[in-house]
Amino acid sequence: MIDLRSDTVTKPTPEMLKFMTEAEVGDDVFASDPTVNAFEKKMAEMFGMEAGLFVPSGTMSNQLCVAVLTQPGDEIIIDDLGHIFNYESGAAAHLSSVQIRPIKGERGKINREQAESAIRTYNDWDPHTRVIAVENTTNKGGGACYTKEELIELSNLADEHGLYFHLDGARIWNAMTATGIDPEFFGSVADTISICFSKGLGAPVGSMMLASKDHIKKARRLRKMWGGGMRQVGLLAAAADYAVENHFPLMTKDHQRAKQLAEAVSENPKFRIDLNTVESNIVIFDTVDEAAVDVLKEFEEKGVVMIPFGPKTIRATFHFQVDDQDLKKVLDVVRNY
Ligand SMILES: Cc1ncc(COP(=O)(O)O)c(C=O)c1O
Repeated sequence: MIDLRSDTVTKPTPEMLKFMTEAEVGDDVFASDPTVNAFEKKMAEMFGMEAGLFVPSGTMSNQLCVAVLTQPGDEIIIDDLGHIFNYESGAAAHLSSVQIRPIKGERGKINREQAESAIRTYNDWDPHTRVIAVENTTNKGGGACYTKEELIELSNLADEHGLYFHLDGARIWNAMTATGIDPEFFGSVADTISICFSKGLGAPVGSMMLASKDHIKKARRLRKMWGGGMRQVGLLAAAADYAVENHFPLMTKDHQRAKQLAEAVSENPKFRIDLNTVESNIVIFDTVDEAAVDVLKEFEEKGVVMIPFGPKTIRATFHFQVDDQDLKKVLDVVRNY
């Protein structure tokens, strides 16, 4: 089965597993796992941030950022397709007692004007706007990437209003691959960044919060409080490090394959797609007449799985464990539908 449901479906390679078993480990709750410490330092330096904190998931990483940046009663501005708003089980309300202000952007991206119009005044009865949060690339928005200029405008807006700027970079690797933007740039515009190693890069587990030393100190305690303190977790940091070194460079191919699929989709009159929307590894397209689930059932019978993304919408996501031979099969299935 060729699995295009998500870029999280990858399995650790034998080389990654070997690298993991060779990692030097210690107790990370005592901050004495050398592999974790070195990897946190490496990622913080890569993104030009003061410090990093290795955590089990992108959700925990995003939510630690929310928690250290806010007070109860605060509000976070985010695109209405944002992961923090849609897919984190209401955690910002539950864990940090803050509310989210979803605003309508474009394919998961918001611009300065849209964000500015959502900033509140500071009356006693207002939720206090505290954070502008963006996602890069956008998940529900179909892998769209921010330009440097768009991020600078949002970051400046946050500065002008005394707000924090959070970047959910679960797929920052795809954003860097698609735009050529250096990692340090993201550190220069954001107060907190969440990066993932288990989406597209192929690590079995692992995300990292990047921020100032002070924010990481607070997050470290919360991570323990939330049950995310891990012991000999250098094994997993090693997998993440291996993924960054060895799988990140493969993403260019994923993006090329996504474009090839989009072209095949555009040539079949039973489907509809705007080719300009395919910027990275995600392809979102519509069916003209049939229900997405019916189309997907037939795709699955022919050995290809994707996911429904609406009644007449389908999403396919590429990762390094889909090769050219797999792509050929996917293209045949789509062309001959
Ligand atoms: C943009 C984005 N942020 C955060 C997450 C959460 O990551 P996790 O599933 O590791 O909690 C995801 C997961 O797909 C995501 O796509």
